[in-house]
Amino acid sequence: MSDITVRKVKFEFPDELDDVLPGVDLVRETYLVAFSLTMPYLEPYLIRTYRSVADDITDPGLAADVREFIGQEAQHFQNHRRINEIIKGQLEPVVAAQLQAVEDRLDADYRRFNAEKSRRFNLVYAEGFEAMTCAMAMTMFDEVSSGTRAGDGRFGAWQQLWSWHAAEEIEHRTVAFDVYDHLEGNYAYRVAGSLQAQVHFHRAVDSMQRILLASQGAPAKHHTPPWFANGRPRYLRTFKPGYNPADLEVDPLVAMVLAPYT
Ligand SMILES: [Fe+2]
Ligand SMILES: [Fe+2]
Repeated sequence: MSDITVRKVKFEFPDELDDVLPGVDLVRETYLVAFSLTMPYLEPYLIRTYRSVADDITDPGLAADVREFIGQEAQHFQNHRRINEIIKGQLEPVVAAQLQAVEDRLDADYRRFNAEKSRRFNLVYAEGFEAMTCAMAMTMFDEVSSGTRAGDGRFGAWQQLWSWHAAEEIEHRTVAFDVYDHLEGNYAYRVAGSLQAQVHFHRAVDSMQRILLASQGAPAKHHTPPWFANGRPRYLRTFKPGYNPADLEVDPLVAMVLAPYT
């Protein structure tokens, strides 16, 4: 059983957000917006997946972890959904409609996965997503701790939302891995299925990032996820046979970020 806390958090977002797309690093900014736009579909998909396997989990500690995981993810997507609406309200209606079309396709995919795909498929999708976001979140904390990415001095609601979310992703990093291990456990399928999930997820992010880049007057081209520049080793380690997120060393900054919400 892990130490996971469900924090009921409702961010107060201003009606006008000036720190989401300031144009300092458009590739990074549009990537984070596109990522945020997927959350109200991806996270409910994870929740539906874990609810559907709750009766299969025979380890009471792990069952408790799953309940906390669901509680955290529910808080995440509700906050993202609210800020996403504000962000889209600041974009041209035609841009918001293009984004919505990608969101609708993603939502349809996830509902189809729950309805038609195997337990193994959905559990490996969840683990592939969680392993990747844990690497991404830990990289964000590495960058702040080491001063690799200085930032632009802003720490508004948008940055606060992301630091809280990234910190909780690190806190619940073992759950998807442990459920997959408990119910499925096949290593080769974990690697192949995780990759497939990450490609599927990033296709949606990429489509939305291109729309957002074009809306800001930049070329609508593909970019490698910005956190890859520093996070590639962390990400690649998730595919090793001995990988276990429980063994990862957590930056003390994670507890500091979460303290005000606890
Ligand atoms: Fe989350
Ligand atoms: Fe998560």
